[in-house]
Amino acid sequence: MKGIILAGGSATRLRPLTKVTTKQLLPVYNKPMIYYPIETLLKSGIEDILIIVAPEHAGHFINLLGSGKDFGAKFSYEVQESPRGLSDAFIVGENFIGKDDVTLILGDNIFDCDFSDHIKSFSGGGVVYAKEVHDPERFGVVDFDKDGKALSIEEKPKKPKSKFAVVGLYTYDNRAVEYAKKLKPSDRGEIEITDLNNIYLKNGELKVNIIEGLWEDAGTFDSLLRVSQIMAAKYKEEEGE
Ligand code: TTP
Repeated sequence: MKGIILAGGSATRLRPLTKVTTKQLLPVYNKPMIYYPIETLLKSGIEDILIIVAPEHAGHFINLLGSGKDFGAKFSYEVQESPRGLSDAFIVGENFIGKDDVTLILGDNIFDCDFSDHIKSFSGGGVVYAKEVHDPERFGVVDFDKDGKALSIEEKPKKPKSKFAVVGLYTYDNRAVEYAKKLKPSDRGEIEITDLNNIYLKNGELKVNIIEGLWEDAGTFDSLLRVSQIMAAKYKEEEGE
């Protein structure tokens, strides 16, 4: 299993914080944001990691993270020339993925969850991870049967079929690369992860794993502040401060 961190994008919702730097290098309490998805992958047992970055910030990521040796990991880098969408990770990452399975994590998604059992037991197809939320209409929403087989995925539905939001971590078998190449850009000009998930869903091969720990998407002023406060409290508790 290989890992990809998607750390490009334009981060328009965080301007002017992101006018001269990139979202994933902003601080979340005492660390740059990208440390969190790196730690999530490492905790899941994934140590061979591709970091996809925007051209103007590539040097900063390499300066900060280097080869991965300091993390006990191996980092590779690819440049995404423009933010073509989340599914583009599998096209940009094709050579890195090779013949392996792959887990994608979004560079601004912060978890305090252990995915290692889910990753270890992955046996093909696609897997999305879902968390119960009180405002599902703000998210991608997945409905599923009692065996965890996905029945539908809808982006920001007005009438959600469930209370389970799809979080920013996804596991696929090698077919994700070929499927991603077939996707057509959506109305907003991106190749959407929901469309990739819908291919697996239509094949009856999309599984849903429910997660219960912390999940925050740190892409807005409020969520960035909230997750910084949560991580500060956690750090101080662990340090006995
Ligand atoms: P988003 O938060 O969906 O997009 P964004 O970061 O460009 O922000 P905004 O909506 O405020 O303009 O992206 C989720 C993550 O995926 C984030 O880490 C950026 C990354 N990303 C890419 O690397 N390439 C892409 O093509 C897209 C769409 C996102």
